[in-house]
Amino acid sequence: MAVILGIETTCDETAASIVVDGTVVRSNVIASQAALHARYRGVVPEIASRAHIENILPVVDEALKQADLPSGKAGLSKVDAIAVAHRPGLIGSLLIGVTAAKTLAWASNKPLIGVDHVHAHLYSVKLDNNVEPPMPAVGLVCSGGHTALYAINNWLDIRLIGSTIDDAVGEAYDKVAAILGLGYPGGPIIDKLAAAGRPDAIGFPRTLLSRDSLDFSFSGLKTAVLYHVHGVPRRGQDVKSEESKRTIEQAELYDIAASFQAACIDVIIKKLRRAADQINARSVIIGGGVSANRGLRAALANLRLPTFVPALPYCTDNAAMSAGLADIFLRSGSVSSLDLDAIPQSRFAETK
Ligand code: KG4
Ligand code: ZN
Repeated sequence: MAVILGIETTCDETAASIVVDGTVVRSNVIASQAALHARYRGVVPEIASRAHIENILPVVDEALKQADLPSGKAGLSKVDAIAVAHRPGLIGSLLIGVTAAKTLAWASNKPLIGVDHVHAHLYSVKLDNNVEPPMPAVGLVCSGGHTALYAINNWLDIRLIGSTIDDAVGEAYDKVAAILGLGYPGGPIIDKLAAAGRPDAIGFPRTLLSRDSLDFSFSGLKTAVLYHVHGVPRRGQDVKSEESKRTIEQAELYDIAASFQAACIDVIIKKLRRAADQINARSVIIGGGVSANRGLRAALANLRLPTFVPALPYCTDNAAMSAGLADIFLRSGSVSSLDLDAIPQSRFAETK
């Protein structure tokens, strides 16, 4: 039985978790910074780093406590390894988690395992649910920072096959929420509003790029929503100004949310179909914050392939997914040295 402590600080959540044997989540503690960043309608890197410094040790201790382990060094002596998401992410944020994980691993003489956050998002389908998706599988990570497709031959053999050329889909949700004057993060708010609107009310664009392309583009869709709300700008006019914004009644707000969401989902489902055909996939695996989206989860049935989505607590950023994935590395004897680096890019970025 392997007990792994996971640490996550790649963006704006400080998280720690205890996972047993790669799938049994004993604790999943997340200190969200959403309230700190909300007034800026997005993550401010300096604020994120400071909050991680304040939160990291209390969050680790809370994860030990919730897993019925003693606090501090006595608790660490009961774990078999310490995992940390050391890439990709905001460098200042990553550094806090990596430094904490290295220090705890050194002090407790336990192996350190650095994992890729995107890899962990894919693995999150196995948490609390020890299923083994048929491989090869198409993987999709859709979140605030990533929208990318992967060919997954097994959990250690993964290749990037497509990615966004501009905005991530979660970023588009957050920006559209900002345009509409809603809160941050925008995804869950728009998801809720969309349920009350008509998905075919407004014909927002679906950008599919070239015929075989597995890449994504969401910035045109975001601009289409902006123009829908503010009007198409005349020369020299600031399209984002409050003056150009027209009043939107509640019913139209629902329709904009539903039509925007329908455009996102249409593109994602079409790209998943394309990718599945191109690699002869036997299943589809989805992770990342947008995989919590109710509309997207329902639309996956159209793929007519077995689909695997994470349980809701593991869609958005968490440390359980890193602790779970680290179990595979630990079993294959692949551990990191104490000079593990924080790296802004994903390990899959270069392999495309
Ligand atoms: O995975 P995550 O926590 O962080 C990154 O790695 O980026 O994803 C956060 C993103 C945000 O953009 C948020 O708006 C989006 O996931 N999100 C959603 C939903 N819940 C979170 N987007 C659409 N529908 C949701 N229900
Ligand atoms: Zn993430």
